[in-house]
Amino acid sequence: MKQKIIITGGTGYIGSHTTVEFITKGFNVVIVDNLSNSDISVLDRIKEITGTKPEFEQIDLTDNEKTKSFFERHKDVSGVINFAALKAVGESVQKPILYYQNNINILLNVLENMETHGISNLIFSSSATVYGLPETLPITENAQTKRPTSPYGNTKKVAEEIIEDLSKVSESLNAISLRYFNPIGAHNSLKIGEAPSGIPNNLMPFITQTAAGVRDELKVFGNDYDTPDGTAVRDYLHVVDLAKAHVLALDRLLHKRSKSNFEVYNLGTGIGYSVLDVIQSFEKTTGLKLNYSFDQRREGDVPQLYSNPLKANKELQWKATLSLDDMTLSSWEWEQNLRKNN
Ligand code: NAD
Ligand code: WQD
Repeated sequence: MKQKIIITGGTGYIGSHTTVEFITKGFNVVIVDNLSNSDISVLDRIKEITGTKPEFEQIDLTDNEKTKSFFERHKDVSGVINFAALKAVGESVQKPILYYQNNINILLNVLENMETHGISNLIFSSSATVYGLPETLPITENAQTKRPTSPYGNTKKVAEEIIEDLSKVSESLNAISLRYFNPIGAHNSLKIGEAPSGIPNNLMPFITQTAAGVRDELKVFGNDYDTPDGTAVRDYLHVVDLAKAHVLALDRLLHKRSKSNFEVYNLGTGIGYSVLDVIQSFEKTTGLKLNYSFDQRREGDVPQLYSNPLKANKELQWKATLSLDDMTLSSWEWEQNLRKNN
């Protein structure tokens, strides 16, 4: 019999790519999402890729009663992959209550219902932002977590602390927190990808929208950092590589290979690229010239952040395979496809 899992936030950017990977590996997936930052059409797109349309329920996971009755209907699952969250860093600074209420209540409701129904296995979407300003690079999971610069980031740090607290007393909980670095790119079918609403906050969609003529110019935030070319350095990874890590992480839990009932893993390539490296790769792979200029540093940005992904390489048998050129081209192909269809 096929194993069934719950994917919260499964119609979103990373959730939809992960759903594809789980279905491909033979899992039955039930997605729960309130569609606050995603579209119902993603379900048909997933079907076009995999041949299977995942089960779906539109529920706000901060709603205690509705979440309870959702879990009553789906208690026969082997695990929960929890993506659902709000993720706009700038908005979280303006609306901290919304971010704490949404992201923390989702987690509390999910954990409470997992406990009620004896569902053990949880994979949680965390972020490299929990490292704050890193003291050493590349950063390992042993590095001290610090207060992130935004309320959004802090919801990830607090969420990890909540899971860790529960893991100390819960008989059944088995959790893995995955700390993503900077996911970019889209599925090679070009049927799913990221479609940010409004002005993008993140570098890659801003680059592709500028090249597509939707934005006039990319502002490179800071060229006076203590980095090889003065621009900030990040660890970009392809979203399909990232999605695959979730299947391997759940497999570790299902086969009881964890060393403790709360583990954390960095998910990145381990290579730091500067903003100018990303622009150069984009120009090379697409043959386009990008309109950009240098601007002030963006508040809250760290100069450099890139992972040591060896723990995930060894223990999850996971490794990012796609290069920066693969990623920038993938992002551009997705952007063009979006424009063609709109
Ligand atoms: P996304 O916004 O595309 O997906 C999140 C999904 O959660 C959306 O479909 C949204 O509708 C849903 N959601 C939000 N609040 C909800 C609620 N109250 N009830 C039900 N559904 C709700 O974001 P993403 O980029 O796919 O990110 C997925 C996860 O990974 C998030 O937890 C995010 O914080 C984390 N993360 C993302 C990145 C990144 O760069 N994209 C980096 C690190 C961590
Ligand atoms: C990358 C680099 C910018 C836009 C954020 C969140 C993190 C995680 C991923 C999750 C930085 C520079 C950007 C632009 C620029 N989030 N930049 N011009 O800040 O590393 O991480 O997204 O949900 O929690 O903090 O990613 O893509 O915003 O920026 O120069 O218009 O590109 O300064 O150096 P970041 P990013």
